[in-house]
Amino acid sequence: MKFEADIFSIFDEEWALLTAGTPERFNSMTVSWGGLGTLWGKPVATVYVRDSRYTLEFMENSDYFTVSFYPEECRKALGIFGSKSGRDTDKAAETGFIPAAVEAGEAAGKAVTYGQAKKTLVCRKLYRQRMDLMAMPEDVRAEMYADGDDHNLFIGEVVEIL
Ligand SMILES: Cc1cc2nc3c(=O)[nH]c(=O)nc-3n(C[C@H](O)[C@H](O)[C@H](O)COP(=O)(O)O)c2cc1C
Repeated sequence: MKFEADIFSIFDEEWALLTAGTPERFNSMTVSWGGLGTLWGKPVATVYVRDSRYTLEFMENSDYFTVSFYPEECRKALGIFGSKSGRDTDKAAETGFIPAAVEAGEAAGKAVTYGQAKKTLVCRKLYRQRMDLMAMPEDVRAEMYADGDDHNLFIGEVVEIL
């Protein structure tokens, strides 16, 4: 399994979609904070989901999630996935993105990406934690969490790259 990327720009500049749930019921949102690395000897992807996101309940209730990357022409669609909520919008219908169930491997039938993706990391959820505001410097806490909309970090083992 090989994934070549500029780690410090792939999330920050390219953005990605985080999708959790099953082909029958799933939700996606844009993420631009994340990481790729190694934990417990496994290749992992880390994402950060604020309390207010509808995607959070899907992340909590799913064993798998996907992190998918798109060509530049999909930027506008990623803007929609990152500004509207699945609570009241069918984001796939609005963007024309075509949901695609993961069909092979251990996540078959348990994870979703989109036909437009150029790369999808299929992840098995390994770890989840609500970030401890007392474990970060005060200036970060004040800048990022003054409104109480805290982040939940999720680490997934990358089990497949599509
Ligand atoms: C470029 C961009 C990056 C974003 N990155 C994150 C992120 O890393 N974590 C997060 O919680 N929200 C992030 N958001 C906000 C969510 O994508 C946005 O609130 C979305 O509407 C949530 O959808 P949902 O309610 O259907 O889950 C980002 C938005 C944009 C436009």
